[in-house]
Amino acid sequence: MKNSPNNQITIDGPAASGKSSIAKRVAEEKNAYCINTGEMYRALTWATLKNNIDPKCDPAGVASLLGEFNLRIIANSQDITTTLLYNDNSIIPEDILSSHVTSQVSYVAIIPQVRDWMVNKQRETKELGLIVMEGRDIGTVVFPDANYKFFLTARPEERALRRLKQTGEHPTELKLATLVESIIKRDKIDSEREVGPLKPAVDAHIIDSTTLTICDVVNKIVSICK
Ligand code: CDP
Repeated sequence: MKNSPNNQITIDGPAASGKSSIAKRVAEEKNAYCINTGEMYRALTWATLKNNIDPKCDPAGVASLLGEFNLRIIANSQDITTTLLYNDNSIIPEDILSSHVTSQVSYVAIIPQVRDWMVNKQRETKELGLIVMEGRDIGTVVFPDANYKFFLTARPEERALRRLKQTGEHPTELKLATLVESIIKRDKIDSEREVGPLKPAVDAHIIDSTTLTICDVVNKIVSICK
């Protein structure tokens, strides 16, 4: 039954659309494992920058790291969380969430060999049973047969405001405007790439969360996944 299309709940959407918080809450409600695929692309971006490779100019250099890239998704035994391990160590959030990584991650995620590698790794998590996986191409590429697919959207200004609140920063007009610009830029690169672009699956439920709370969105998703 592990391969049942009822076992994968996919949540896709643009930058800072609330996917991570919502996927975690849906996973709790459904007693499912939660997997954040953005962290995987961020981890490779971090390794790329550490190796002084510029992903925009040297995609082959990034692809050459994949042979030695020891990234594993581990299911924790005590609860339904998963941990991403790099060389058998937990990933340090400050490393992969830095603004430098954020500004470069879409150039790493555009590389076809990278996407292939990530998608294969993500599909292995079917073995865990019921999972909630969030990203950009989960409903379209990773689990196209899944029965429960969602695509979250929200206005860029609202997304930027939420991201600043999440990081505890005071939302000045300048900070907001800068963040809106970088969110729109990342969405554009993610949507226009040839392999695994950011887009809703034709059978996804599209939820515009601009005026909804996290709770509203979680309830909506859980009620559809009954
Ligand atoms: O949390 P946030 O919305 O800022 O982004 P994220 O989910 O951490 O994803 C970071 C980046 O990874 C995205 O902008 C994409 O370039 C890439 N990504 C992707 O291409 N495919 C996925 N399934 C997940 C992330």
